[in-house]
Amino acid sequence: MQALGQHLAARRLVPPLVGLVGDLALDQQLRELPALRFALERHTPRPCNPVARTRIASGAVQRQAEVYARGVAGTKPLIPTDPRRLEDAARARLTPEAYAYVAGGAGSETTIDANRAAFERQRIVPRVLRDVSARTTSVELFGRMLPAPILMAPVGVLELAHRDADLAVARATAALGVPMIFSNQASVPMETCAAAMGSSPRWFQLYWSKNNDLVASFVRRAEACGCDAIVVTLDTTMLGWRTRDLDLAYLPFLRGKGIAQYTSDPVFRAMLAGEPPAPAATVKRRVTLHSLSALLQMTRAYPGGFVANLRSKAPLGAVQHFVGTYSRTNLTWEDLRFLRERTKLKILLKGILHPDDARRAVDHGMDGVIVSNHGGRQIDGEIASLDALPAIVAEVQGRIPVLLDGGVRGGADVFKAVALGAHAVLVGRPYVYALALAGEDGIRELLRNFIAEFDLTLGLAGLRDPREITTEALAAARS
Ligand code: GLV
Repeated sequence: MQALGQHLAARRLVPPLVGLVGDLALDQQLRELPALRFALERHTPRPCNPVARTRIASGAVQRQAEVYARGVAGTKPLIPTDPRRLEDAARARLTPEAYAYVAGGAGSETTIDANRAAFERQRIVPRVLRDVSARTTSVELFGRMLPAPILMAPVGVLELAHRDADLAVARATAALGVPMIFSNQASVPMETCAAAMGSSPRWFQLYWSKNNDLVASFVRRAEACGCDAIVVTLDTTMLGWRTRDLDLAYLPFLRGKGIAQYTSDPVFRAMLAGEPPAPAATVKRRVTLHSLSALLQMTRAYPGGFVANLRSKAPLGAVQHFVGTYSRTNLTWEDLRFLRERTKLKILLKGILHPDDARRAVDHGMDGVIVSNHGGRQIDGEIASLDALPAIVAEVQGRIPVLLDGGVRGGADVFKAVALGAHAVLVGRPYVYALALAGEDGIRELLRNFIAEFDLTLGLAGLRDPREITTEALAAARS
């Protein structure tokens, strides 16, 4: 009876509270709930944080208050807040092939482990008795204020996780003003995502294909979509030795998945009229149930009506042309001029792990580098991104922003990367898991959790602004 009474009281209390999250009046109302008092503290967003004030508030206080207030009404978060439980829950939801593609890495996956181990070796050393009541998580990047030093990494083939795929990411990021990097291997064309994003920041990730007209077309489309930057991924000129995918003999692109930027491109569609390049391997063709199912998947994935696609050779041709043109292994530093001459957008090089390459990026007029080993998907035994970061930061000396991805699993990781000199980090697999579990809402929740944990870590470490985070806040753990 008492429980029912509490439930009814909570039902009356919670909706207006939750609906008002972000409004500072909420603090006063929630403070009346003894069970929630511990979740609250005086927290006044600083006026220098226009992004966080105008979009969904994601500071630690608001996020915690919302979670606990909803709990009074018996509602649990949509996605687990613990990154390991998040992955476990997503694994149970995804097909074995989809999970393998997302979670997998190269070889025995020691690079994935190294990325995490590098974060774990860095320990945060908090300072106390500092007034941290007024904080901001905002950072400036390429002239934009971001709610936190966080971007969404480009991740391909999101249709494996959820039917809304990239569109769910576009909507969720736009609600918070977190930049989305459109994947070259997206499941939804960039124009469709851009149309759902208002003025929220977006970049485009480019795989440099064998056809420079196609490269130029992708860049033109990115400009027309309002992208601020092109991210050239340099570490995937060939797909890594992905043991999980190999064991399942599964590559989504061969089923027409993850090639929506191509099938929506005028240059690529014109290529379909010609003969596809010869495949790297020929296997004796046998019609089996599996090959028919793959053909149906290609047909479904191709734009246009299913019946018309079934009659056309375009779906199979698109896969063949994609495989033949996807990437160039003979790309060199000189090729960057082609891009520089074609666009005024910022250009960042992704996959930089050596300080000399970072210096060359500066010398070649690049606007930023992303320290990355592609989430451990490319080379087994590769250096961890976080371990590579300090030498690159020292080499670049603040001339261009240095970003990082690989192993970022929560707000405390964001703090550590920033302490080691990253301007911002890219989050990858966690958002795919959130997408698999709860679509757009799941990603929004994940981002709010990331920002909340970053805000808490900042304040509990005795700091008030990402600009105050330095290596002084870290101690390397003794092994
Ligand atoms: C492609 O970007 C991949 O990592 O699979």
